[in-house]
Amino acid sequence: MIELIKKLPKAELHLHIEGSLEPELMFELAAKNNIQIPYKSIEDVRHAYNFTNLQTFLDIYYAGANVLITKDDFYDLTWAYILKCVEDNVIHTEIFFDPQTHTSRGIAFETVITGINDALVDAKKQYGITSCIIMCFLRHLSQQAAFETLEEALPFKEYITAVGLDSSELGNPPSKFTQVFKKAKAEGFKLVAHAGEEGDFTYINEALDLLGIDRIDHGVQSIHSAALMQRLKSEQIPLTVCPNSNIELKVFESYTEHNIKALLDYGLNVSVHSDDPAYFKGYINQNFINLYEHLALSKNDIITLVKNAFSSSFITDELKQQYL
Ligand code: ADE
Ligand code: ZN
Repeated sequence: MIELIKKLPKAELHLHIEGSLEPELMFELAAKNNIQIPYKSIEDVRHAYNFTNLQTFLDIYYAGANVLITKDDFYDLTWAYILKCVEDNVIHTEIFFDPQTHTSRGIAFETVITGINDALVDAKKQYGITSCIIMCFLRHLSQQAAFETLEEALPFKEYITAVGLDSSELGNPPSKFTQVFKKAKAEGFKLVAHAGEEGDFTYINEALDLLGIDRIDHGVQSIHSAALMQRLKSEQIPLTVCPNSNIELKVFESYTEHNIKALLDYGLNVSVHSDDPAYFKGYINQNFINLYEHLALSKNDIITLVKNAFSSSFITDELKQQYL
């Protein structure tokens, strides 16, 4: 089964590019750019990656992103991730980036987006990997800040497929961003949002009803509402679930308590993704392997999870048919 997991061509739909920054590259870029980081060694970094909730992770994750300065840095970060895709047989990837994490440090939007995009163009040329870019608004910042980011993105619209919402969920519900999502939709972007990761199921209802999203990122708290479960099932709204992340951030106490198998068995459109793999002990294959080892997933379950990712992706129908 582990061989099957490794061999199956896969689609990644929930991957924060800043969350693929491995400690080795973090050290290299810190030295090159003369940026102080609070770690003496790789050992030290691994030791710090011991989280108790989403916020304890985010604090460390945003500090790590400070080493990214030039277009080449964003290219190298993305290219390093592409090599992981090759290793894990990911043939299509949809990448989140957080522009505000960088523009707030004086890095130009153009530097970030062109660095990422150039690497993705090369990934297609060199490995045939298809991709798209999803720009996320940081929900701990204001809706006004999100509007300003959307304005900055418009000259680079051709590179960006969708708009998303991430960062500290509790206390920052989707309703805070209703107007900016409306504008993003009018501009032709697809829409996604993190909801029901730490926040309760009402965040998922809001993402659906107020933001009009195409996909929910995480969504595991849906299990606490029978009405929502019924709706997610009948509308087949995709949930991009990230098991390793949920364990590392203590959304579930252990793998055996993870609810992805229950969601799948109920008939929801769930798929498996890696979120911030450099911080959460592994890329997409490791997520599948952990699920298989703890939740007794069948071969059929694994194939369904993989197929769900392709069918929920933002690729053209033509490409979807080819992949499926
Ligand atoms: N940013 C990066 N990873 C995240 C996560 N798991 N939840 C919310 N925001 C994030
Ligand atoms: Zn995420």
